[in-house]
Amino acid sequence: MTDVAAVVVERVAALVARLHPQVAGDLDTAARPSEHADAQVNVALGLAKQLGKNPREVAQQLADQLDLSGICTKVEVAGPGFLNLTYDDAHLAKLLKDVAADPRLGVRRADVAETVVIDYSAPNVAKEMHVGHLRSTVIGDALVRMCEAVGHHVIRENHIGDWGTPFGMLIEHLVDLGEVGAARELSVGDLDGFYKQARVKFEASPEFQERARARVVALQGGDQDTLRLWELLVAQSAHYFATVYEKLDVRLVASDLRGESVYNDLLAKVVERLSAAKLLTTSDGAEVVFPAGFTNRENEPLPLIIRKGDGGYNYATSDLACVIDRVERLQATLMLYVVGSPQAQHLAMIEAVAQAAGWLPPTSRMVHVAFGSVLGNDRKMLKSRTGDSVKLVDLLDEAVQRAAASIAEKNPELPEAQRNVVARMIGIGAVKYSDLSSDRVKDYVFDWERMLSFDGNTAPYLQYAHARICSIFRRANVERTATRAATISLGHASERGLALWLLQYDSAVWDALERYSPHRLCTYLYELSTRYTSFYEHCPVLKAESDELRLSRLALCDLTARTLADGLALLGISSPEQM
Ligand code: ARG
Repeated sequence: MTDVAAVVVERVAALVARLHPQVAGDLDTAARPSEHADAQVNVALGLAKQLGKNPREVAQQLADQLDLSGICTKVEVAGPGFLNLTYDDAHLAKLLKDVAADPRLGVRRADVAETVVIDYSAPNVAKEMHVGHLRSTVIGDALVRMCEAVGHHVIRENHIGDWGTPFGMLIEHLVDLGEVGAARELSVGDLDGFYKQARVKFEASPEFQERARARVVALQGGDQDTLRLWELLVAQSAHYFATVYEKLDVRLVASDLRGESVYNDLLAKVVERLSAAKLLTTSDGAEVVFPAGFTNRENEPLPLIIRKGDGGYNYATSDLACVIDRVERLQATLMLYVVGSPQAQHLAMIEAVAQAAGWLPPTSRMVHVAFGSVLGNDRKMLKSRTGDSVKLVDLLDEAVQRAAASIAEKNPELPEAQRNVVARMIGIGAVKYSDLSSDRVKDYVFDWERMLSFDGNTAPYLQYAHARICSIFRRANVERTATRAATISLGHASERGLALWLLQYDSAVWDALERYSPHRLCTYLYELSTRYTSFYEHCPVLKAESDELRLSRLALCDLTARTLADGLALLGISSPEQM
């Protein structure tokens, strides 16, 4: 283990468990950065409360018995009962050497490799992808990368909306346009236009309505020609989604598609099994389940509709089938649903019903990784100038254009071909990072100026810090790998501050992963660049007083750049060497 804080946390937790086995449960044993020491442990406060004792006395008892020899030179009780720690320089230097030699930069693998199904992106066929799908895609992609990095087995599932009653009207509209005409319209990515036209016809013409209804029946009955037309519709949309994923540089590919339609054959089974479990009731002609604990505003039990009066199945039914499939076929131990907050109740009901039906063994957890909305500068839902929802592709293209303009201004020498590659890394990186860097459960404001700024907690700022370090090495004419066995000097406070932060990368990654909160990794990376900037201001690197010191400082530069690039990669963001 190379994480400086993690070593301490482990020892503290072990000591607390030994001294007070009855209360060792949910105590905060973290070792946090502090202004007064290298790190601070606050465990005595919570512990004293539970024991009904004086926190300073509890802290003193811990300080006396805590064996941190070789790790800390000082453990002091401070304030109301904090433990202030000072690390041993030799210990830090050793950890830094170990991290530098480790391609994983100290990031621990999971003790138990889980099978993680990640349900994300999930746009709807023949409908425009909106910014909500952008959030799901970007957050989901970061979680995929983080889970894989610690050794989990990840299964990506893109649960697109490709089934249900709207397809009757969509297919009839396709028939009206002619297959060739419809394909042309859909291939330019004008999905919303297609959907709206179908909707208008549906509302205006009883004859069209009739056809649409008959089409739904034919589709559900497996009529060959209808299925062929449906496939055409799905294929056009899927092709369009793929172009967006490619622009976004996310891992999703065609084989990750697991739309609602995939579960079609399982739906009757769901009803059968719910009925066998005695959970199914009839309410207003529909077959429903009333999961315990869910009520509407009038305080009446809230139903989850499984089969409507007309025999049609629901969104909820395919989600239940999905749980069965993920647990029983895929053996998922963890299922992440990266879905907007408005669907919290839906997912909670799915979980409750699956639980009641006995489909969720204790070894399989369902987690709703919820997120807020994307707002415009007016703090209302993000809309285009015409008032429609913003087209995702337009947004991504604009990001790249804006990034290209700013590089052309900042670095006119960069050859054009390289500029285009870098513009893409920066533009797309900026969009992703602005999404990932705010706490996902909150709404966030989509602001071009801020996300593309080279200052502040932005992708360009972190990418620039990385590129600057690469340029130092070009000027130094030193191989980066040549620094990795150097003994790092911690003479200046800013060197020490940077080193301590580098030694907490492992904790930062795990912390972000365990809370499914990429913003915590962003916060870590931003603080890393801030500490690097302070180090660079105070400690000459290329003009260091001695060759030894120069090598030590280059080693800090190298490790910082690697940590930045690795952290950004976990977020799905590239780090150009020049920009
Ligand atoms: N297609 C849905 C939407 O656009 C999201 C699906 C989320 N995943 C799920 N298993 N329900 O709102």
